[in-house]
Amino acid sequence: PVIRREDYLPPAWLVPEVALDFRLGLDATKVVAKLSVARNPAGSGASTLRLNGDQIAPLAVRVDGLDVNDWRLDGSDLLVELNGEAHAVEVETALNPAANSQLMGLYASNGMLCTQCEAEGFRRITFFPDRPDVLSTYTVRMSGEKAQFPILLANGNCTASGEGEDGTHWAEWHDPWPKPSYLFALVAGDLVANHAEFTTMGGRKVDLNIWVRPGDEDRTQHAMDSLVNSMKWDEEAFGREYDLDLFNIVAVSDFNMGAMENKGLNVFNTRYVLADPETATDGDYDAVEGVIGHEYFHNWSGNRVTCRDWFQLSLKEGFTVLRDQLFSADMGSEAVKRIEDVRVLRIAQFPEDSGPLAHPIRPDSFQEISNFYTATIYNKGAEVIRMMRTMAGLERFRQGTDLYFERHDGEAATCEDFVKAIEDGARLDLTQFRLWYSQAGTPQVAAEMAHNGTQTVLKLTQTVPATPGQPEKQAMPIPLRVALFDRDTGTHSGEQLIVLDKDSQTFTFDGFTQPPVLSINRGFSAPVAIEFERDSADLVFLAAHDDDPFARYEAMQGLVVQHLVAAVSGKLDDAARAEGRAAIGEAYGSVIADPALDDLMRGELMILPAETYLAEQLPVSDPGAIHAEREALKAWLGRELAAPLKALHDRAVAVAYSREAAARGARKIKTQALVLIACSDPAEGARRAFAQYQAADNMTDRQGALMVLASLDAPERETALADFHDRYEGNALVIDKWFSLQAGALNPKVLEHIAALAQHPDFTMTNPNRVRALYMAAAANPKAFHDASGEGYRMIGDLIRRLDPINAQTAARFVPSLGRWRRIEPVRAAMMRAELERIAALPELSRDVREQVSKSLG
Ligand code: ARG
Ligand code: ZN
Repeated sequence: PVIRREDYLPPAWLVPEVALDFRLGLDATKVVAKLSVARNPAGSGASTLRLNGDQIAPLAVRVDGLDVNDWRLDGSDLLVELNGEAHAVEVETALNPAANSQLMGLYASNGMLCTQCEAEGFRRITFFPDRPDVLSTYTVRMSGEKAQFPILLANGNCTASGEGEDGTHWAEWHDPWPKPSYLFALVAGDLVANHAEFTTMGGRKVDLNIWVRPGDEDRTQHAMDSLVNSMKWDEEAFGREYDLDLFNIVAVSDFNMGAMENKGLNVFNTRYVLADPETATDGDYDAVEGVIGHEYFHNWSGNRVTCRDWFQLSLKEGFTVLRDQLFSADMGSEAVKRIEDVRVLRIAQFPEDSGPLAHPIRPDSFQEISNFYTATIYNKGAEVIRMMRTMAGLERFRQGTDLYFERHDGEAATCEDFVKAIEDGARLDLTQFRLWYSQAGTPQVAAEMAHNGTQTVLKLTQTVPATPGQPEKQAMPIPLRVALFDRDTGTHSGEQLIVLDKDSQTFTFDGFTQPPVLSINRGFSAPVAIEFERDSADLVFLAAHDDDPFARYEAMQGLVVQHLVAAVSGKLDDAARAEGRAAIGEAYGSVIADPALDDLMRGELMILPAETYLAEQLPVSDPGAIHAEREALKAWLGRELAAPLKALHDRAVAVAYSREAAARGARKIKTQALVLIACSDPAEGARRAFAQYQAADNMTDRQGALMVLASLDAPERETALADFHDRYEGNALVIDKWFSLQAGALNPKVLEHIAALAQHPDFTMTNPNRVRALYMAAAANPKAFHDASGEGYRMIGDLIRRLDPINAQTAARFVPSLGRWRRIEPVRAAMMRAELERIAALPELSRDVREQVSKSLG
């Protein structure tokens, strides 16, 4: 069944208050839900109350205290007939959390109970109008065995607690802020807290707790620091203050996504909470900071102002991603953060936009909303709001967000409400800009430059590609930060913001006696692809001279992209190949040598474009050829720059561990140098990697070294892998790394290794982190997934079919990799398609996988 945005109707009944009573047990939990329901004056006036359910049965239904028979089931929904204006409706359900492998609703994880309700998990707990525009005040009572569940948590504040008979205890929680059901949460288990306090700008004292399993508390300080920083930052950057006396975070090991912003009780995947130098990489530290910030920021962008319906998901997710990006940028390096964010967008979102699952940031229809927690909704959504910020300027943008929060506080709002508030508050005309919400596809902007006398004319032409259901597109406003560099002085006379809002437009610049060098889309001011044929010399110039760090990175990327795309298209003869490599080698050499660069930024400039991004540049590509050319370039760079790379590695090895930027930078370039050394000289690479592994006093160095060893056919490989497993036995997050390093390795035997890992006693299909560790790494590994035998496709196809009945949401996340078949050379494409067809032929398939597979087959 397809759900359409245009079919939205306000709810017929509202639920101002909810009282929930849980009698908790791991394999038997009883729920009594009392709903005060009231006719919605803005509703249809229907007398039928529709309460959604999913995999639950009503054990008893009472209206105004009396058992009634006046109810029926419509599919899994419960319908109750009501005559008056307001009633008390009571429903009892019984659940088996231990059997809930979908991890939606109430489920058991490591002996504790927890919930995940977004988007439609609450209906797996009790019957309810499970839609985000029904806001209620929740009172929750829970009781359970004290020994098994010493800690009992829900949203809001704990209002009462006590002991029951025979070893039970109970607690009552009240959340004063009306919220939709997707923000409900409950946790019960044996947990210990890292406790801290925060005083808000208005003087409210807030108790902060990060709850983890006993033994994990020593790894929570970074998360706590990040939380305190987030609370402070949101006050300063957006004027947003926290609104309860208590803020709880709970870490759970079985979780479908990253984390969840339940009001006052965030539930997190352990991987975004636990961090210490011995077990977490610098990247893991950054991810913890980013996700802690993200969930905290949802308290305003998501909870105080929520979504009217799930088509508006980007209203909260796009905005909150932008907020977490700005927060992380302020906590660390703005330049590095911007480059990282663009890399993610290009690797994850551009392929979405150019494939069978393309959708606008505000979709028009869906079958299963879980499939729409995408890079498009999240990351492109953030880019779209970032463009408004760029066009308005920071101060006016802030006036726009202030107005948005003020106008819609306590409401379930729409993307249109957001745009209107920015329009009014920031005083911008966003009429045409709204197309960014309705049109899918990454705009392509072709640039041409002509020079005459002292005049430079820049001609820009945009095309927004056709996407499923959207054959025709209109021109969108594309804000581009540009600068023109004088070749002799290496400087420009000021950056300008130009807005391309027609199919084609020219922009004139004066005052250059010779053709200037164009720096365009600086800071990645618009999420578009720029097509601009230019000399390598210009790119080498920008890579060395551009004062916008992103543009410098972009020039490096452009240099390599141009070369590799020409190479895989068979357009390079030996001379042209040598010339292209020489330009890349020169730019790379200056990046390694440039004393003005800090190592974190140097590391960014040294990252080669990803294979998926290279594939995006071609209508149809041969992943084998892309991989081979890219690897050949790495080996060439390793040979050409052998001496400076070894010197770089030696210098970095000498830097002692700390969390400071300089030391983090040293660790980043250390492993990057190692990768290139190993590509050109495997014996030297193995020697250095093994030494780095053995000397490591932190996970960044250890994982980096092991990653290099895992790709080599060297005796040190087995030794280091065995040591790593022994050393971290029992630490699930680190054992995840052990799986994904091997599945992601560019090792000739990687498919055999993956098959063996799937049989390893530590592997399990019921833990999403473990499944992703093995199979997401495999699906992203060109050497495994795109193996010419088709074995990689079969492996992912088998996984989807086996995982679907266990955890449909996680299974569906693997479909898009096979869904890329139209953009892959015909032999592989046929095998990828065949896998999708085998899945589609199954009689029993979740709605999640069904939707993704049928759209991918087209
Ligand atoms: N709102 C959460 C976040 O971005 C994501 C939760 C989605 N969960 C799900 N099962 N679909 O922060
Ligand atoms: Zn979010």
